[in-house]
Amino acid sequence: MAGQAIAAVLGILLALALLEPAAAAGMKFTTHDLRSEKAVRQLYERWCKHFKVVRKQEEKVHRFANFNQTVHDVASRTVRVADEPLRLNGFADATWAELEACRCRMTPEGRRNLAPVPVKRRGGDGNLTLPDSIDWASRICGQGLPCISPVRNQLLCGSCWAFAATAAIESHLAIRPEVSIIVQLSEQELVDCDHASHGCNGGLAIKAFNYIKQNGIASRQNYPYRTFPRENGTCLARTTPRTNMTMIGWTQLEPHNEYELLAQVTYAPVVVAISIGVNNTEFKRYAGGMYRGKCGTKIDHELLLVGYDPDSYLLKNSWGQSWGDFGYLSLPRTHNCGILERGGSYPVMGWD
Ligand SMILES: *[C@@H]1O[C@H](CO)[C@@H](O)[C@H](O)[C@H]1NC(C)=O
Ligand SMILES: *[C@@H]1O[C@H](CO)[C@@H](O)[C@H](O)[C@H]1NC(C)=O
Ligand SMILES: *[C@@H]1O[C@H](CO)[C@@H](O)[C@H](O)[C@H]1NC(C)=O
Ligand SMILES: *[C@@H]1O[C@H](CO)[C@@H](O)[C@H](O)[C@H]1NC(C)=O
Ligand SMILES: *[C@@H]1O[C@H](CO)[C@@H](O)[C@H](O)[C@H]1NC(C)=O
Repeated sequence: MAGQAIAAVLGILLALALLEPAAAAGMKFTTHDLRSEKAVRQLYERWCKHFKVVRKQEEKVHRFANFNQTVHDVASRTVRVADEPLRLNGFADATWAELEACRCRMTPEGRRNLAPVPVKRRGGDGNLTLPDSIDWASRICGQGLPCISPVRNQLLCGSCWAFAATAAIESHLAIRPEVSIIVQLSEQELVDCDHASHGCNGGLAIKAFNYIKQNGIASRQNYPYRTFPRENGTCLARTTPRTNMTMIGWTQLEPHNEYELLAQVTYAPVVVAISIGVNNTEFKRYAGGMYRGKCGTKIDHELLLVGYDPDSYLLKNSWGQSWGDFGYLSLPRTHNCGILERGGSYPVMGWD
């Protein structure tokens, strides 16, 4: 019990350390910032300020070593095109444990009892010409608000599946002009109550869709995300009001069919799965621009596909706005971390 309490306190401290800072894209630096240890320390101070990171003095001592390694790795490993700048994101002084904690173990088991709604083919039989590009993240939907809800932070919890599911439904609710509801749904309810998945130890967005179809879901305001991973969180669904929306099911697109996936995205965003891989520091340190780092070999992360252009997929992640391009990822279509392997899924709302 005492051990648990200590673990809980440590967890809270870690979580506080990673609390989402104000919106910030990657922070630029140059190799000149690495000319001496003093210069790197100055860079660390600048980084703390840029991402509004507050560290205790003794914490800075061990985190500086992480930071130092990050900046040297980024400077030496980044595959650069022309004079693309070197950039740091908000994870530059994170520990190994922190970097690994937000990977999602995807559990393919237990899909048999899930019943998808048949695919409504958006692109005819492959005979429609799709637009060259689409970007839901830059569009305005009903009530003059963005079609895509703000980027969130799953913190030290493998709950990407819950964030991908809520992000998808929120976008579908915002996009339909005749209904256009702006609401933010509770990932914490899914973590605590959807026992088909495994809370902070991973899960699947389609299971979350199934849960929401059966139980509805609370708003984020009524059932907020706690900043500590509570694997055994008490489920509060019964005492928390449901949001006013109807989901009739969800659809699973077939794997390895890019045309179907893109055709669907022209209609609304889709949950997709990719492979990051264990210890993929390049991915964790991604700070905007086209991602050119490595991928893993096993699917381990879910996120929301919100657009594409001829060269890339545009994805909304759930690692806060200090990661990537204000929380978004541009993944090359030719080097796509297995994005087509699982095919993609999306919620089917009452009016679809
Ligand atoms: C910073 O990293 C460089 C390159 O790995 C290394 O040579 C140097 O000793 C490190 N400095 C500190 C203070 O950790
Ligand atoms: C696409 O193919 C389907 C089935 O063959 C057909 O019904 C539809 O009219 C075609 N659409 C266009 C735009 O050609
Ligand atoms: C969490 O659940 C596990 C497995 O059911 C159990 O062994 C453990 O004691 C629980 N922890 C708490 C704090 O309830
Ligand atoms: C729920 O949504 C329906 C359909 O959009 C609307 O008619 C109704 O007024 C809403 N109810 C509440 C309590 O907001
Ligand atoms: C990941 O990196 C950590 C720290 O360097 C190391 O201890 C661990 O063995 C690595 N895991 C794998 C699977 O490479």
